[in-house]
Formats: sequence, C-alpha cells, structure tokens
Amino acid sequence: MSRLDSMLRRFTAQRDGLNWAASLIKGVEGDALDMGLGNGRTYDHMREIMPERRLWVMDRVLQCHPSCVPPEEDFLQGEAEEGLERLKKIGAKILISHYDFGFGVKEKDVEEAARFSPLIAEIMAPSGVIVSGQPLVGFDAVKGPDHIAPDRYYFYRT
Ligand SMILES: C[S@@+](CC[C@H](N)C(=O)[O-])C[C@H]1O[C@@H](n2cnc3c(N)ncnc32)[C@H](O)[C@@H]1O
Repeated sequence: MSRLDSMLRRFTAQRDGLNWAASLIKGVEGDALDMGLGNGRTYDHMREIMPERRLWVMDRVLQCHPSCVPPEEDFLQGEAEEGLERLKKIGAKILISHYDFGFGVKEKDVEEAARFSPLIAEIMAPSGVIVSGQPLVGFDAVKGPDHIAPDRYYFYRT
C-alpha cells in the first residue's frame, strides 16, 4: 500500500472512529480529551462534532494550525504524565478520549501507550469510550465501525 493510501486510511479511521464514538455517548454528560494536539486536525474535528462538551487537549508543544489554537484553560501543555495527573487532580470527568501520542516508531509508541494506559484509566468516567491510534492495555476492547480494520485503529469502553 502506498504511503498516501496508508495516510488516507488512517485519517478516515480517525474521523469515522471519532464520529462513531461520539454517537455512542450522545446525551451523556462528560468532557472530551484529545491526547496529542499536533497540527490540530483531530482537535478541530472533535470540537465540531461535540460542541457541547468541554474539550481538553494535551501536547508537549503548541505547534498547531493557527485556527486550532485551544483556549488556554483547556490546553495541558507538557508531558503526557503531567497532563493526565492534572486532570486527575481537577477531578475531570472524561467521557470520550482520543489517543494520538507517538513518535512514529511502532515499538516505542506501543510501549508508551501501555505505560500511559493506567493513568488514562484513572481519568475516564464509567461508560466512556476511547478511540486510539495505538493499542492500550487494561480496557475492554470493542469493535469500532465495520469498515475500519481492527489493527488500524483501536476502540475501548470504560
Ligand atoms: C501524531 S501527532 C498528533 C496529531 C493530531 N492528532 C492531529 O490531528 O493533528 C502527536 C503529537 O503528540 C505529541 N506527543 C507525543 N508524545 C507525547 C508525550 N509523551 N507527551 C506530550 N505530548 C506528546 C507530539 O508533540 C505531537 O504533536
């Protein structure tokens, strides 16, 4: 598969997975979290499809498109562990999370996702949903939208 095809499949999986997850929790109160602001594409999509939710977002650097700069009070700048600890301290009720941290080195990204999983578990509300670009551990895996291959994107309920 060409890198272009692979990228398109990944973006499609992100968008469709987030739409699917948002529909599962429609009407249930709780915040949203985007782990890895990056360029701000998924952040922008999440705020568009869930305008009623507070949307927290994390990254060690603010390097997004100017149209996607988050409100200061919702941006947890720093390392993932610090951001997750801050949310725990605040007592945030996160109902939907998107995980997109990573270096692009598969083994490293998988190891990091496993290491952050218990911290993510601590801030997720019951009946929540996680959409993830990496496999997480300790959550109940669920099948996402039919057209998304199981190893392309990962879906969990809490
Ligand atoms: C793949 S990009 C996210 C792309 C984003 N979802 C988008 O749609 O534009 C991953 C981002 O996560 C951040 N990141 C990776 N590991 C991190 C960590 N351990 N703590 C904080 N930020 C991290 C990087 O700085 C990078 O901006």
